[in-house]
Amino acid sequence: EKGGYDHFMLKEIHEQPKAISDTLTGRISEDGTKVVFDELNFPEGFAKDIDRIHILACGTSWHAGMVGKYAIEKLTRIPVDCEIASEYRYRDPIVSKNTLLIAITQSGETADTLAALRQAKEQGTRVLAITNVVGSSAAREADDVIFTWAGPEISVASTKAYTTQLTALYLFAGWLAQERGAAGAAEVPAMLTALRDMPAHAETVLETAPAIQAFAKDWSSREHAFFIGRGLDYEVSLEGSLKLKEISYMHAEAYPAGELKHGTLALIVEDIPVIALVTQDDLYEKTISNIQEVKARDAFVLALAWSGDTEIGKTVDQVIHIPKVSAFLAPILAVIPLQLLAYYASVARGNDVDNPRNLAKSVTVE
Ligand code: F6R
Repeated sequence: EKGGYDHFMLKEIHEQPKAISDTLTGRISEDGTKVVFDELNFPEGFAKDIDRIHILACGTSWHAGMVGKYAIEKLTRIPVDCEIASEYRYRDPIVSKNTLLIAITQSGETADTLAALRQAKEQGTRVLAITNVVGSSAAREADDVIFTWAGPEISVASTKAYTTQLTALYLFAGWLAQERGAAGAAEVPAMLTALRDMPAHAETVLETAPAIQAFAKDWSSREHAFFIGRGLDYEVSLEGSLKLKEISYMHAEAYPAGELKHGTLALIVEDIPVIALVTQDDLYEKTISNIQEVKARDAFVLALAWSGDTEIGKTVDQVIHIPKVSAFLAPILAVIPLQLLAYYASVARGNDVDNPRNLAKSVTVE
């Protein structure tokens, strides 16, 4: 049932090219230029009237939402908030009939996300669920549903759910931009071409596994690690950090690279592993100078950078290269080495990878 892999998590990491491809299937017009979402039944004019979007989720799904916020804002210029469901539901969010609430939940059964979804519906807010489980509570209760076609995710640590949530969110951002005739709609055809290449690129990224495994083995006796990045690299860092904590039980923190100097540099000491994500071209120089700050304190820096980046090796100790795509779509590929890192660190530490302590796959209690 694990298809020859030692753990479900590793199997699911390797299923990502297919899962991304399945999530794209049927959602791109034949000429490749338009997003097609036959499943969305927005009332007449609503797509144009939306003036605010709230994204709600927990854990990994929340991290996907952070990328979704970036994508929707970039392509549609609608202001988007992305919040943790257990926080959102206990405050008094500002919503109107022109607010769209997007609930992201792999299982469709997370109690806090469902509570936020129900609260929004009671207030008359239209709810779109992005979920992986047909027939789940979220799928049944939302006004609209976009399914991620990741297939069953068995390992407690979420992997292919995240990359398919990202895929769905990029598509939705593109669809909304096209429906509204937003300026960002002009970028959608190129994005769709790039998304269709993503499964093949994800296969290439999976080839980094041996290098990641060696790094994980060498560094798995550490108790602390940092993930740094700027912009979308920071959002992906959040997911890399969660994954490492969740299954390796190493303490990890994700930090916006520019924020280190406001306190956290005090924790950067000799040989502490720092995983630096360097895929955001516009922020390249800024990120490099932040890496130099941690190198000056003798951290060990593993960088995740584009293939073809021959400069980065001069600043860091080790580089993992991923195929070059647009910085906008980088998260889909950048997360994969981080999933592998958490996986191999967990294995090296002798943990029960698929069933980490204290955690359940679907959190149906508050
Ligand atoms: C982390 C993980 C959790 C879930 C979270 C939300 O690897 O799996 O953080 O992402 O419990 O679950 P769903 O998406 O089912 O609502």
